[in-house]
Amino acid sequence: MNDNMLSIDPNKVDTKDLHQFLLGCVAPRPIAFVSTLDDEGCPNLAPYSFFNAFSSNPPIVVFSSNRRVADNTTKDTLYNIQNTGEAVVNVVNYDIVRQMAITSIQYPAEVSEFEKAGLTPIPSEIVRPFRVKESPAHLECQVQDIITLGESGGAGHLIICKVVRMHIANNVIDERNRIDPNKIDLMGRMGRAYYVRASGNAIHTIVQSVLEIGIGYDALPDSFRRSQVLSANNLGQLAGLNALPETDAAKALASQEATVMELLKGENVHQGLHEYAKSLLDNGDQRELAAQVLLLAEDY
Ligand SMILES: Cc1cc2nc3c(=O)[nH]c(=O)nc-3n(C[C@H](O)[C@H](O)[C@H](O)COP(=O)(O)O)c2cc1C
Repeated sequence: MNDNMLSIDPNKVDTKDLHQFLLGCVAPRPIAFVSTLDDEGCPNLAPYSFFNAFSSNPPIVVFSSNRRVADNTTKDTLYNIQNTGEAVVNVVNYDIVRQMAITSIQYPAEVSEFEKAGLTPIPSEIVRPFRVKESPAHLECQVQDIITLGESGGAGHLIICKVVRMHIANNVIDERNRIDPNKIDLMGRMGRAYYVRASGNAIHTIVQSVLEIGIGYDALPDSFRRSQVLSANNLGQLAGLNALPETDAAKALASQEATVMELLKGENVHQGLHEYAKSLLDNGDQRELAAQVLLLAEDY
């Protein structure tokens, strides 16, 4: 196949290379900072980015503890959970990301990564493993099931956790009682040594109702789809409109909308109107007005 894409047969690639291709594609991943206790009550803490939330009712999060590729050994977190059935999943924000990285070092089982990383264990309400004081959110979990995916190096064990209590720091919650992404400032794991900080410019707001039926890309006029100015994302925005504007409303802009009136006096009116529509879409997602401008542009 020659479609300018690397074609990979998982059976013919080294597991360590396949691992990196997978991690580079499935990214960014949230990081579960998992606290457990061993048989003697010694605390263990380790990051797991094969992690996500899968159900809200019941509240279920899942992470995977994998056999090491190098020597096919399993990890302390898995062992502890097999014995105790409990864990606390803490989230990782920017302020603690380097301390989190320390806890991924392969310390002997009897060493507490809380101490090595300088993090503070605090008691949980329902389960026995500690929470991480410095993390802005903690999920106390009872393990519902462990699914073993294989016996060789790289094989995962899905650890299915039922959340029995959540704790969220007040200072990451806004006045509407919602988590503010800029305040919680979470880190995500990508391939190799790459991470993403999910705040500031990294955050994009995309408002798209799933209840109202968007007209779809296929219903956009040819003049929109063939635009030399609009991007694929701009067309995606327009495809989410509930209906195309009435032609009369579009024509009325010529005598009512200040920017349009100015553009009509200039040269290359068609291009100017498309650029204006693009700026309306890029700055504030003003789809209705942008579509009107684009319809008007058909006359020029
Ligand atoms: C950000 C990050 C994410 C990780 N995600 C995983 C993962 O999803 N699964 C896994 O088996 N190991 C993962 N690791 C490696 C483990 O954290 C590492 O093997 C650790 O020593 C395991 O500790 P434990 O033996 O105390 O459980 C990750 C490491 C880092 C730094």
